[in-house]
Amino acid sequence: MLDYKNPGLVVETAKVEPGEITWRSPANLAIIKYWGKHGVQLPRNPSLSLTLSSSFTDMLLAYKPKETGERDIALDFFFHQEPNGPFREKVLKFLESVADIFPFLRQLDLTVKTGNSFPHSAGIASSASAMSALALCLCSLEHELFETLEDDGEFDRKSSFVARLGSGSACRSIFPVAAFWGASGQVHDSSDLYALPMADEIHPVFKEFHDDILIVSSEAKQVSSRVGHSLMEHHPFADTRYADARRKIHFLLQAMKKGDLETFGQIAESEALTLHALMMSGNPSYVLLKPNTLEMIERVRRYREETKHPICFSLDAGPNLHLLYPGEIIHEVRVFVDEELMPLCEKESYLEDWVGEGPVQI
Ligand code: PMV
Repeated sequence: MLDYKNPGLVVETAKVEPGEITWRSPANLAIIKYWGKHGVQLPRNPSLSLTLSSSFTDMLLAYKPKETGERDIALDFFFHQEPNGPFREKVLKFLESVADIFPFLRQLDLTVKTGNSFPHSAGIASSASAMSALALCLCSLEHELFETLEDDGEFDRKSSFVARLGSGSACRSIFPVAAFWGASGQVHDSSDLYALPMADEIHPVFKEFHDDILIVSSEAKQVSSRVGHSLMEHHPFADTRYADARRKIHFLLQAMKKGDLETFGQIAESEALTLHALMMSGNPSYVLLKPNTLEMIERVRRYREETKHPICFSLDAGPNLHLLYPGEIIHEVRVFVDEELMPLCEKESYLEDWVGEGPVQI
């Protein structure tokens, strides 16, 4: 099985010049959700996501050769210009976990400076953008030191593999427009180990899609995704869920190829509500939706019924509603959002996002 462990990737420290690498990497929104995992972030079912644009993480990785033979990874860490102990611990633990893939990390003094484009407490999961940005920095550093990842396809695949080890959903953020993750007979070359680019497999309408993120609550959620995934292990509906996701993948791929927005919307909403239904029907059960989330869902469905506009919603593992629609109806939808949904948002705030071109090195 592909594991990228490579004891040969060590440097002659005397020859390494100090340097720095910066990547900007976006969040992504799963249309078919990844919920349930095994092993080291291996998904129980394939997932498909849209890559976002304005919700991103910037990450700078600076490095210089260590002056001592100390083997522990040496890391200084800054989040929005401030040292941040808990985040540093997470990143350090992750770097230790990938030190067999990038053994040269033990030979360098590292500094990470990072920040998100979206407000820290917007209730938006930042792990996909952050972990993909970090994986991209590590692969760029490997390439800088060893010129090993010349081929773009190989660079992306390794970045996606490494991002997955940090946070499963992060492996999909590496690719522009849309990404597919998980072994499936429906997608050639698909794997549980990394995601694949899907931009060429989908209708152009999805390249102009918008995702307004309506902030119902910015409180940190009471139950983490890690715990949520683990509750799927003994969930009474687990097998049915995984089979259902595989069935939906087939119909979603067809709909996205054709630009069939009605089927797309049905699947997106069914997946969003299935994710929350799984949380509510697990043991222990929990509810992340808020009354205003449900009110928004009703209003979106009523608006669609009345106007026939192809808008739909999705949800992540939290109460905030993602409103999805093609760019060509943005003016009409903006009026609807401002009049009917914004008053239901915490501090009347929402984030405008849209499908984007994936990470960029800056
Ligand atoms: O990548 P994780 O472990 O944070 O899990 C993410 C799970 C969902 O966001 C709810 C669904 C998904 O596929 O992104």
